[in-house]
Amino acid sequence: MKIAILHGPRDLRIEEQTLDVSRLAADEIWVKTRISALKIGTDRGNYEGADQVPGAPGYPRWVGDSNLGIVQAVGSAVTRVQVGDRIVTRAPHQSEYLLTGSESLVVIPDGVSDEDAVYAHLYALSAHCYHKAQFRPGETVAVVGLGVLGLGAIALGPLFGGRVVGIANSPIRMEMSQKMGAHANFLYDDPNLQAKLDEFSHGVGIDLVILTANPWPALRTAMQIVRPNGRVSVVSLLGRGEPPLDFNPLAMEWFYNKGISLLAVSGRAGYLYPDASPNPFQTADRYAWDHIAAHVVSLMADGLLRPSRLITHRFHYSEMVTAYEMAYQREKNMLGVTFNW
Ligand SMILES: NC(=O)c1ccc[n+]([C@@H]2O[C@H](COP(=O)([O-])OP(=O)(O)OC[C@H]3O[C@@H](n4cnc5c(N)ncnc54)[C@H](OP(=O)(O)O)[C@@H]3O)[C@@H](O)[C@H]2O)c1
Repeated sequence: MKIAILHGPRDLRIEEQTLDVSRLAADEIWVKTRISALKIGTDRGNYEGADQVPGAPGYPRWVGDSNLGIVQAVGSAVTRVQVGDRIVTRAPHQSEYLLTGSESLVVIPDGVSDEDAVYAHLYALSAHCYHKAQFRPGETVAVVGLGVLGLGAIALGPLFGGRVVGIANSPIRMEMSQKMGAHANFLYDDPNLQAKLDEFSHGVGIDLVILTANPWPALRTAMQIVRPNGRVSVVSLLGRGEPPLDFNPLAMEWFYNKGISLLAVSGRAGYLYPDASPNPFQTADRYAWDHIAAHVVSLMADGLLRPSRLITHRFHYSEMVTAYEMAYQREKNMLGVTFNW
């Protein structure tokens, strides 16, 4: 089978590895990939050799974690999927692989295209930005940074009942955000940003900021524009590969005096009303990861969510290095990128 392996900064190679599928263990699932998607923010950071993400393996390492494939065979104990099912997993860019039935996966219903479904996990992360912050319908949300995750948050906001504004660092991204359903879009360095946000929120201010951009100035923007007692969901890996700070990121005027909450979009979101279960130790969790991903896929099945609208590049897997180099150059017109296997 073929797999993309990163040997060091900007040294990505497609390699041949063996995969023994002759005898599956009871809980194993054999999957052949149809398409995988580039997760630009994280993948580009790894590719260019920015600080390592905590928990990620060193070099040589796999890349990518949005994979859509077809189940070829299942072990005797697997009940979640059947042969022929189309599933989205968090497997790296590779032509085929084995996973176990307890790993993260979502079965894709008929009617959802491959190119929408492959974004299930990325959009689940966008959704998690809302859940982690205990978002409530009717709140006003600003999304700072409009890459794949940010635009996912833009698309989901109105579906969740929010009024959503995109804060971009380029007019191209403002246009994309408009297309994804933002109620308004502004540039982060607009001298009248605060006045425009006040008008947008009818003087109430921004209840929740979703921060998806790594650079420190983006945190400053987030903390400036959030209203007193508001909250900031931080999904970006702040400061990753950035020069040292020239300001205090938790300055009293923005943090303490405003009484805001900073939330890390990692780990589980709290949920007040878990399912009643006969076993008090086994309550179903509404915001377990695969539940969020399945919800996102159901919005696609309803025709309400179309991540594929933002696919700007489709590559054969053998051209993967070209795609990563384009991301490295930060080409602004590059957003959704898929690889065909
Ligand atoms: N917490 C997690 O579990 C998790 C998982 C995956 C990803 N992430 C992180 O989430 C972030 C978003 O991912 P992504 O794939 O959407 O990344 P992305 O494509 O890099 O999106 C971030 C966008 O923000 C823009 N930006 C930079 N500075 C800005 C500013 N001051 N104001 C407004 N926009 C600004 C960037 O522009 P430029 O290209 O010009 O810099 C880029 O378009 C990444 O940092 C990624 O590492 C976190």
